[in-house]
Amino acid sequence: MISINDNPPHTRITDEAGIRKPTYTPGLENVIAAKTHLSHVDGEKGELIIAGFPLEEIAPRASFEEMVYLLWHGTLPDAPALGEFRQALASERTLAPVTRRVLEAAAAQNVPPMDALRMAAGTLDIQTYEGDLWRQGTAVLARLATIVAAYAHLLKHQSPIEPRRDLDHAANYLYMLRGQAPDAVHARALEVYLNTVVDHGLNASTFTARVIISTGSDLVSAVVGAIGALKGPLHGGAPGPALDMVFEIGDASRAEDYIRGKLERKERLMGFGHRVYRTRDPRADVLGAAAAGLYEEGGDRQLYTLAKSVEQTALRLLAEYHPERKLQTNVEFYTALLLHGLGLPASFFTPTFAISRAAGWIAHAIEQKEQNRLIRPQSEYVGSRDRRWQELEDRDRARS
Ligand code: ACO
Repeated sequence: MISINDNPPHTRITDEAGIRKPTYTPGLENVIAAKTHLSHVDGEKGELIIAGFPLEEIAPRASFEEMVYLLWHGTLPDAPALGEFRQALASERTLAPVTRRVLEAAAAQNVPPMDALRMAAGTLDIQTYEGDLWRQGTAVLARLATIVAAYAHLLKHQSPIEPRRDLDHAANYLYMLRGQAPDAVHARALEVYLNTVVDHGLNASTFTARVIISTGSDLVSAVVGAIGALKGPLHGGAPGPALDMVFEIGDASRAEDYIRGKLERKERLMGFGHRVYRTRDPRADVLGAAAAGLYEEGGDRQLYTLAKSVEQTALRLLAEYHPERKLQTNVEFYTALLLHGLGLPASFFTPTFAISRAAGWIAHAIEQKEQNRLIRPQSEYVGSRDRRWQELEDRDRARS
C-alpha cells in the first residue's frame, strides 16, 4: 500500500535505487489522495467525524446552514455570521430563465430526475462572483434545491413553486415540493437527513469534484461532474430498493420466509451491509432516530412498524447466514424510510441526497483550491506494442 499520509506534500515514493515506483491499486482502495479537515470515516470503529464533531453529536443539533458554514469555514458561525449566511442562501434561490427552459425540455422528454439535475446544474451562471468560491458555492447550493423541486412539478405537468426567502434551506425545499410550508417536525427531519449525508470522506463524487477543481476548472463543472458520479448505483443511485423490499413483504408475518428465501438464493438485502463500515453505520443510527421521531408524530405508522420488524428479522437472519460478518443496517434503509415519510417519491431520493452532498463537494473544492496540486495518477499500460500501420485497402483485403 502506498500512503502519502506521513510524507510531506508531493513526496515521491522511491525504491532502494531512488527510482520512482508506482504501484497499481485497483479502485484506488487504501490510497490516500488528499489531506482534509472536512470529514473522516473510520469503518472499523463505525465512526464518522464531520469537521471535528462526531456525526451523532452534530447532525441532530445543527441547522443545515450551520453545518454548511462549519464545512466551508472550519468553525461554527456566531449569530451575525449565521444570519448573514442564511440571507445569502435565501437570496440566491431563484432560477435563471435558461435553467428553467432546460428543465422544461427535460420534463417534456421524461428525463430521469438525476439527469435533469445534471443538465440544469450545467446552466448555473456564477460569473458575477468570479474569484469568490464561497459566494459561488452559496449560489450553486441554493439553486440546486430549487432545480430539484421545480423538476418534481414539471414532471407532473405542473408549474414549479417559487422559493421563499423567509424559510431555511430544508423548510424551503419542502415548501417548494409541497406548496405548503412544512411543520417544524418535518423541516427538522429533513434537516437531520441533509446534515447526515453532507460529507463522507473521499467518496467517488467528492473525489470527482476535487479532480475537476485540481485542473483549474470552475465550481459549476466540479458540481456537474460530481452529480454524474453520485448518480451511479454503486454510489448514491439506489436508495429506493431498500423500501421496495419492505413494500414487497407487506406484512410482518411474511418477513422471515421472504428474507430467508433471498438469503438462500444468495441475493443481497438492500439497506444492509457496507464496504467501509464493518461494525455499524453511524448515519443509520442518526437517521433511525430521526425517522422514529418523524413517524411518532404521524404519517404511515403501519409502514414504520413493518419496516422496523423487517429490519429486526433481516439482522437476525444475516447474523445466521453470515456469522463471520457483522452485517448491519446501512444509511440507505433509513434514508428511504425518512424521505418516504416526508412524502418524497423514490425517484427524488438521490436528487435530495445531491442537494445536501453538494455542500460537501463545494467544501472540498475550496479545500482543494487552497492546497492545489493537479490530481493526475498513472495507468499501467497492458496493451500490445510494436503494431504496424496498414492502409485501408490492405485492412479490407485482409478481412475479406
Ligand atoms: N445481504 C445479503 N448478504 C450480504 C449483504 C446483504 N446486504 N451484504 C453482504 N452480504 C454477504 C455477501 O454476499 C458476502 O457473502 P459471500 O462471502 O457468501 O459471497 C458476505 O456478506 C461478505 O460481504 P462484504 O464483504 O461485507 O460485502 P461487500 O463489501 O462486498 O459489499 C455492500 C458491501 C455492496 C454494501 C453489500 O453489503 C451490499 O450489497 N448491500 C446491499 C446493497 C446496499 O444496501 N447498498 C447501499 C450501501 S450504503 C452506501 O453505499 C451509501
